Formats: sequence, C-alpha cells, structure tokens
Amino acid sequence: MSKLSDRLAKPIVLVGLMGAGKSTVGRRLAKRLGLSFVDTDTAIADAAGYSAAEIFERYGEADFRDGERRLVARLIDGQVRVIATGGGVFVDPRTRKLLNEEAITIWLDAPVDVLADRTARRDTRPLLRNGDPKGTLERLAQERGAAYAEAHIRVTSGGGAHGQVVESIVEALEEYLNGRGGQPPTDIPERPLA
Ligand code: S3P
Repeated sequence: MSKLSDRLAKPIVLVGLMGAGKSTVGRRLAKRLGLSFVDTDTAIADAAGYSAAEIFERYGEADFRDGERRLVARLIDGQVRVIATGGGVFVDPRTRKLLNEEAITIWLDAPVDVLADRTARRDTRPLLRNGDPKGTLERLAQERGAAYAEAHIRVTSGGGAHGQVVESIVEALEEYLNGRGGQPPTDIPERPLA
C-alpha cells in the first residue's frame, strides 16, 4: 500500500482543549508523515507581533477569536499539512464547518486531570489565569465537548508518551482513509440463518 502521506488529499487539523498536546503531537505527527506543520497560536502571534496571551490582554477575546477565524480560513488553502489549532478554533460553527469540509479533523481528547497537570506547567493561557484552572477546564470540557465530538476522528491521549499518541493517530488515519472512519466495517456479511 502507498505511503499514508501520499494518500492524504486534505490537511490534518488537530482540535481539542488546552493541554491535550495538539502542538507537540502535531509537530511530531508532521515529522512522521513528512509534512509541514503550523500552529494557529504561533501563526497569530507571528502575524500580530504579540503572543496569543498578549492579544487577549490588549484587545480582548473577541478580537483574538476574529483573528483566529480569519487565520484558519487562510491556512485552509489546499496544502496538505498538519495544523494544530488553539482550543477555541473548532468551537466557532463556521470554522468547524469549513474544517470538516476541507480537512481531516482529529479531536485529541484527554481527561481533565491530565489537561490540568499539563497546563499548570506554563502560565501562557489567559483563560486559565482565574485562580481555578481545573474548574475552568471542567467547564470548557462540558461546554465544548459536543463541538469537538463533531471531528472526523477522536483519539484519546492519557498522561502517556506523545509518541504513542502519534502512532494512535496514524492508525486512526489509516482506518479513516480505508473508509471506515473509526466505525466498525460495514461489509461484514450477515450471519446466515441457522
Ligand atoms: C484557547 C486555547 C489556547 C489559545 C488561547 C485560547 C481556548 O490554545 O488559543 O489561549 O480558548 O481554548 P491551546 O489550546 O493551544 O492552549
């Protein structure tokens, strides 16, 4: 069978909550597949000259979301690459529709405990600076779960090694491209009547 990257006709877009590992896993996945990688938070910061956190502080969340939406629309230009998105990207209905039409979307899901541990290592996320980061992550998991669940593929990332998550994604992509989309095969012959 030909290489996975040769069979990809669309970009791969990682979605999910803060701390799920989208950037780290995305970069490694891109390397594994020989594709280029872009992270929306980094791309916004490069364009604006401020970090995502500074944009929140200076201009507020609404402006950040607007910039994020326009950036994602520009990144979906037919190039096959790996895109790691900020946690809010897939929550916007228009962006979600665009990504589900023009990309293969992967929800990197992880338990809130794992997200809380990982995000506690760096103070770069404005939404988690309110004194109760775990409570906020719990609330966001509730509020956003249904949106993330609309991704084509869901891969669970526990507290384990990112390399293992990359391999799980590769397997899930193989299944998806084979037309099963992570669902049980539909071509199982019916059991003959006894
Ligand atoms: C956000 C997630 C962050 C960043 C911003 C808002 C969110 O990205 O875009 O702080 O709304 O979930 P990561 O998911 O990469 O941490």
